[in-house]
Amino acid sequence: MSLKNILFTLLLFSVTLGIAQDCPVFPHPQNYTSMTGEFYFGEMVMVSTKDLPMSGQDYLKWYLPHDLKINTLFVAEGGDVLFQRLTNAPPDSYSIKIDKKIKISYSSDASLFYAFQTLRQLILKNEGQYYLQNVTISDEPNFQYRGMHLDVSRHFFTVEEVKKYLDWMARYKFNKFHWHLTDDQGWRIEIKRYPKLTEIGSVRAQTLKGHASVDPQVYDGIEHKGFYTQKQIKEIVAYAADLFIEVIPEIEMPGHARAALAAYPEYSCDGVRVPVAETWGVFEKVFCSKDETITFLQNILSEVVELFPGKYIHIGGDEAPKTAWKACDNCQLQMEKHNLKNEEQLQSFFIKEMDKFLQGKGKTLIGWDEILEGGLSQNAVVMSWRGIKGGIEAAEQDHMVIMTPGSHCYFDHYQSDRKGEPLAIGGYTTLEKVYSFQPIPEELRADKQGLIIGAQANLWTEYIDNFEQVEYMILPRMIALSEVLWGTNQDYATFLNRLETHEFPRLKEKKANFSTAALYMTTLITSSPDGVEVSYETIDPAQKIDIDLKSDESLQLKDGNTVVLKKTLRPRWIKIKAKTVTGTTQDTSSLHILQHSTLGESWTITPSPSTYYPGKGALTLSDGVIGARPWNGKEWLGFNEGDVQLKFDLNNKKLVNDLNISMLSAPSSWIYLPETISLRYSKNGKKWKTLESKVDKELMKISLGKKTRYLEVTINCMDNIPEGQNGAGHMPWLFMDEIWLD
Ligand code: ACM
Ligand code: ZN
Repeated sequence: MSLKNILFTLLLFSVTLGIAQDCPVFPHPQNYTSMTGEFYFGEMVMVSTKDLPMSGQDYLKWYLPHDLKINTLFVAEGGDVLFQRLTNAPPDSYSIKIDKKIKISYSSDASLFYAFQTLRQLILKNEGQYYLQNVTISDEPNFQYRGMHLDVSRHFFTVEEVKKYLDWMARYKFNKFHWHLTDDQGWRIEIKRYPKLTEIGSVRAQTLKGHASVDPQVYDGIEHKGFYTQKQIKEIVAYAADLFIEVIPEIEMPGHARAALAAYPEYSCDGVRVPVAETWGVFEKVFCSKDETITFLQNILSEVVELFPGKYIHIGGDEAPKTAWKACDNCQLQMEKHNLKNEEQLQSFFIKEMDKFLQGKGKTLIGWDEILEGGLSQNAVVMSWRGIKGGIEAAEQDHMVIMTPGSHCYFDHYQSDRKGEPLAIGGYTTLEKVYSFQPIPEELRADKQGLIIGAQANLWTEYIDNFEQVEYMILPRMIALSEVLWGTNQDYATFLNRLETHEFPRLKEKKANFSTAALYMTTLITSSPDGVEVSYETIDPAQKIDIDLKSDESLQLKDGNTVVLKKTLRPRWIKIKAKTVTGTTQDTSSLHILQHSTLGESWTITPSPSTYYPGKGALTLSDGVIGARPWNGKEWLGFNEGDVQLKFDLNNKKLVNDLNISMLSAPSSWIYLPETISLRYSKNGKKWKTLESKVDKELMKISLGKKTRYLEVTINCMDNIPEGQNGAGHMPWLFMDEIWLD
């Protein structure tokens, strides 16, 4: 082979390989091979109608670029675009071959639709001409349940906005739309038999401004309302069906019922009317478990099942405090009548009544994982949201499971730690975290793994009052989830590169309000012998960073992108500003750091923090970073196993005036302050003294004023969250971000 030929072969090889890695389709198909050569559309696009149903002709209209589709000509045979319906291929599988012609084979109506979603992402443009790279693709989904949820109770979204949401779902091959239609803050579905549900229940007088954890609470004084007529519901269900999306309505019970009970207070335990809720959280006012309420809810479900032709009906079941039931004669009678030992069993009875009813209507019940408590009803499908434990337990009991753990699937959480993010409920779910999600838990027995039918992202809208923000929260995180569910998520860096190259420009062209947070520079804090070092890194190594140290002479710059911070005897705040000065994504980061005497030192922590909130390990408590509020992530260490012990050795006797411990109170995320902190200290490790402090604020200062060497801090947490508070009955989370001595 001549040198020229070798070079050419190498080039060909690298081009083929390069393109193969650089797949422009999301979710990445199971098999994707690109080859040299392109298919260019001529003046006319000749499309064969053989094996192309009318729906397929619609897809050409919907999904080809506008100036291409006007030149489409349908022909009975031959042409540039050809179809073949296969009878014995796996369901929902399709293949595409592009080489002089575009050939699509498919096994089902849905898979023809998926083929078009792939095709539309393969179309490229060069100097005004559309073309496609030669490829062969064979593809099918991994999980049968690929869901997105939208809460329209906390904030109402119009029919057109819901359709837009469905369009995004279709683009990334999601097939289940979980429509959260009722909650404390608004009832959004017309029920003909009970008109007050929408007359009264769909209107709230005003809405909380700012975060629910901020005191004092301020309200906007503006009425918020909206509901879907049954005609509109049918319109959306039909629209979704055209996109091969099943709509799953959620009618919440027995908790999250304030809107319904504002309209029909007779179905609560005390019968007292309270208004539609105007703030966020968990309320004690729930549906009573008496027979009349069960009939009322079943009458509602009778109308609901007629509107939704799909298999599933979601009945909620989460976060239902038992306070009202405990004080209610009717509920206690119901327990006696059915020989139930406690209110958990009463809830289980209540859900079972709904399950029987829905089965009679040919439907399958879905509920949040609380429906496990007190015994799971026979056919229920469990949606695991409080982590994955509920999902594992349900699968072990042979129930089907949909995974939606808060850690990876709550898209109402923050996606970056930048100050400019819109206010969110809290939490930290980055694109990378979503991409790393594995819906099937490793610890689940192999023979039960098939019961995990898929996963879903949830978009709760307490803090999302417009559709632009809806888009911002789902894009691009839903794209990452789509690859998880399609079963083709692999290397995050490659995914991010594909997104930036292919999908972000298309989202921009579509004027979508998507987040580019994943492309921001990253800040890494590491410990050094003298304190800590703060380094900045960009995704694109060619991108330059400018660091502004605010002329603080105590700070040094090392290797251009690293700031050296030394321990100081007295705590002092410093500020570092960094910004990118080249590249397409402009990004600025502003970091406040508390320099102190134990900066970068390690406390010994028992037990280890939760794997969900590991921060950056022990360094989290001494890196000088105080967590933002609402809390948003890696600045915090989270514990969920009771008391926590921290130990520190100063190496020498030193004067310690105060021990400062910074913690978080965020009850809406089940994060509570501990009850007490006890500090033991000793000069020699033999004789110890103890100081006990009651915890009443996030930053606790324990005054010592003694020379000491060894410190042992025990943080005593509540055993259980009290009745009536968020997460009642569960172990509270303890979140800490910093400890320092002065
Ligand atoms: C939920 O987030 N309460 C299901
Ligand atoms: Zn009751």
